[in-house]
Order: sequence, then C-alpha cells, then structure tokens
Amino acid sequence: MNILKLADLEVKEIEEILDQAAAFKSGTKKINYNGDKIIANLFFEPSTRTHYSFETAELKLGCKTIDFAPESSSMKKGETLYDTVKTFESLGVDAVVIRHREDEYYKQLENIKIPILNGGDGTKDHPSQSLLDLYTIKEEFGHFEGLKVLIVGDIKHSRVAHSNIKVMERLGMKVYTSGPEEFRDDNLEFVNFEEYLPKVDVVMLLRIQLERHNEKVAIDAKEYNSKYGLNATNVSKMKDNAIIMHPAPFNRNVEISDDVVECSKSRIFKQITNGVYVRMAMIEKALNI
Ligand code: CP
Repeated sequence: MNILKLADLEVKEIEEILDQAAAFKSGTKKINYNGDKIIANLFFEPSTRTHYSFETAELKLGCKTIDFAPESSSMKKGETLYDTVKTFESLGVDAVVIRHREDEYYKQLENIKIPILNGGDGTKDHPSQSLLDLYTIKEEFGHFEGLKVLIVGDIKHSRVAHSNIKVMERLGMKVYTSGPEEFRDDNLEFVNFEEYLPKVDVVMLLRIQLERHNEKVAIDAKEYNSKYGLNATNVSKMKDNAIIMHPAPFNRNVEISDDVVECSKSRIFKQITNGVYVRMAMIEKALNI
C-alpha cells in the first residue's frame, strides 16, 4: 500500500503504526527481510533527516537500498517522474520513497503498482514527519486528547504544519498557529505568540522556508528571534512540563537560540531518533499490504 498522506489512514491505522514503532524501539519487535526487499530512495529536494532516516530504517529491517541521484539520472535527458518510477518498478524494486517539490506529485503515479512512501510533497504533506512528531508527543504525555500545540513560524510554506494540523486535530489536540503576518495561512487560527506560549503543552518551531518563497523577504535574525523565536528569556515562560519540537533543519539564533536547541525542554534530537522507528513501521505496513 502507498502512504501518501495521513488523511488516507484511519485513526486506528495511525495508532497501529505508532504502536509498531514503539515495539521496534523497545526491541520487542524485530523484522529482518534478509536482503529480499529492495527500496529506492528518490529525493528530488535536499534532505538529511528524512532521506537518511528512511535509509537507516530500511537497513535495520534488512532491506537493500538504492540511492537515486536525480542530477546524474536520465531525468537530465527529459525522462518524466512517472517513467523514472516505472523504471524502478520494472527493475524489481519493492517500494520507493519519494520527496518532491511539487504538491501531490503522486497523482501522476497512480498507475505505479509498487508501494510509494511520501517523503514530503511541496507545501502539502509530510506523513513520516507527522508520525514521528505524534510518536514523540505520545512518548512524552502518554496521550493526545486535550493537548494544546502552538506551531510558530512560516506556516504558509510548511508541509509539516499542514500535515500536522490535520492529524493532530483528528486525534483531539487543539492546534494554534503564530508567526509573522506574511507567513500566515488564512485558513488557520492565528494567535499572539507571547500570549499563548505559557498556555500550551507543545511549542513546535518552524524554519523560514526561503526556498519556497516566490518573493524575497528580508528577515532580521535578531528581530525574528525576539518576536517569534525561543530564547533563554521566553523559554522560562513555558509550562513546566511543556516541550519544544522542531522538524529541523533549524536556523540557530533565528527561530531557536543556540542555548535552547539542547535545553531540557527540547525534544528535537529525540524526534530524529524516533523517526527511524516510525519509518520502520511505515515500511513494514507499506510492504505487507
Ligand atoms: N524534517 C525534515 O524533513 O528534514 P529534512 O529536510 O532534512 O529531511
């Protein structure tokens, strides 16, 4: 089966993936495909975490991996995305992971028969990131219902925000967004950062996604940090048990100060660790159904 967006999965299926990820993390569940499965990772946009987290997950499951480099592929000779993925299917690859800058790129791949795992599409969805975020929240609080989440930053251009808001609300969390006016998404509830910071359980910071901006915006790092960033001063205003999350990569001293990155409230590197187990669970689900 494909995993393209979490809206395609029932809450029960999402919970099952999180449970399987927990079993992989605790070591109670082990799978070894013994090299029988081959997964190709097709990344058409830069990535460190998603790309190598999927690859680590594949290796832990005993899969063989193929690392596709678009810039040295026949796409340079005009081959389409569909024909490229169809080629991997014809080669006998068992599944593909794809990241692409185009929203819903997967709609052109409807005739592909091998599983497709979405590693992020345009500003729309990032299912593996959302699942690892959910996993990290559940690991921390033990539940979702009633938690308050504040997502701060470049909401408009963020697939992490769009992907998370939908699934978090389905799971009973209340999600607020905040950040500079020009990064607002008019379809979402927008609140004052300072006012909501002390009220929420999770503060999720986002990078300013300059690569997705059609017009250049001038950002003064210091000013941004004081208005919408987390720094030593405002972290102390958060609830005692509240946590800081960030999908990363982060820009130090813009949305997050150096001294906050690894502070006791930060779960940023834990998110990265959890991502491997969540992706193992996603791969198992995609390959087995
Ligand atoms: N969080 C995330 O998607 O990071 P990468 O762009 O490095 O994959």
